[in-house]
Amino acid sequence: MTKIISLFNNKGGVGKTTTVFNLSASLSQKGKKILLIDFDPQCNLSIATIGYDEFAQHLERTKEHPFGRTIRAFAQPSLQPTQSSKVYRVQPKYQKEILNDQVETVDGQTLIDIVPGDFWLNSFADILTVGTDVVQGSGLYKFLVPFLLVEKLKEDNNSYDYVLIDLPPSFNTLVRSALYCSDYFLVPCTPDSFSAYCVSLIGEVLPSFIEDWNQGRKRYEVLNRYDQVIPEKGIPKFGGWIFNGFATTVYRSTKERKEIGADKFHLDKTSLTVKEDLFPKLKGISHYDCLPDFVEPTPVAKIQDLNTMAREIQKLNVPLNRLRSRKPTLFASWSYAQKDLMERMNQEYDSLAQYIIDNF
Ligand SMILES: Nc1ncnc2c1ncn2[C@@H]1O[C@H](COP(=O)(O)OP(=O)(O)OP(=O)(O)O)[C@@H](O)[C@H]1O
Ligand SMILES: [Mg+2]
Repeated sequence: MTKIISLFNNKGGVGKTTTVFNLSASLSQKGKKILLIDFDPQCNLSIATIGYDEFAQHLERTKEHPFGRTIRAFAQPSLQPTQSSKVYRVQPKYQKEILNDQVETVDGQTLIDIVPGDFWLNSFADILTVGTDVVQGSGLYKFLVPFLLVEKLKEDNNSYDYVLIDLPPSFNTLVRSALYCSDYFLVPCTPDSFSAYCVSLIGEVLPSFIEDWNQGRKRYEVLNRYDQVIPEKGIPKFGGWIFNGFATTVYRSTKERKEIGADKFHLDKTSLTVKEDLFPKLKGISHYDCLPDFVEPTPVAKIQDLNTMAREIQKLNVPLNRLRSRKPTLFASWSYAQKDLMERMNQEYDSLAQYIIDNF
């Protein structure tokens, strides 16, 4: 059973892309097959995983590939019945190393593939209309592009354990699409005063997204009684939130490592908002359990400020768990403190991966 997971927060720069990249590495390390879908017109995930040069080649439109070799080649033809949709996948640059480690997959095939993003997704977002397509129920399938893409791959015997969707910082139609397709969504948050606000905003907006889908679904079902896809979609569950980019200090008296005071304040405030604001609103969604029993108000993962390592991940096109074997670009070698941080944060991504495997 493939599980589709969206990384979502309408706030920008909170670590959605970084989490997708590092989490995919941890899940694959546990032998899971992963498909990454870059559903963000900024295409940061594509550039981080395959490098700008290869990504640029995939964007190129030619006679043979009129829509390039990105998500566009699947999404645009789906709107034009005369054209056939194609799924192009690429392996991340560090894929070979994973296979060298002889991590076992069920079928001995590649562990991570990515469907590259495309700036064209901006136009696609404009084509999708909430009123007619969703609420009136006349174009619900247009909002299921990531799911349909996964199904198309399955038809060709390419199945994945987990599909991770990277999203733009927005509540736009791309985000709606991904959520309508998803089994779960995870919300990264940074330690700042906007995070609690953004979490409460999700509590406002998500139920209305779901209500829109429900209205359209009911209208659609009157005319399409035997459709088996639409009734199963539009039911994303909250998988938890990730505290990303905070600073710590080791307290002399206890030798314990803890968040610095200012960041602890934001951790507590966001946890409280999740508990007292988001949870009741998600529970208010009546026709399915949007809030699973295993989800707590506290974060499912706590990723410290990675400092320059966050930049190196993007520059070297490797996830955090491969960084140690690379020479840094900004200085001669990794310091003891950096190696220690890598080690601890890799464990944190691994335990997030295990949480997903155990619960989702
Ligand atoms: N834990 C971290 N420590 C330090 N820097 C980080 C951390 N996580 C992410 N960053 C850096 O912060 C910036 C934003 O991260 P990222 O691109 O993952 O966020 P995003 O939520 O995907 O952004 P957007 O909303 O624009 O898509 C990047 O430069 C990234 O390298
Ligand atoms: Mg991003």
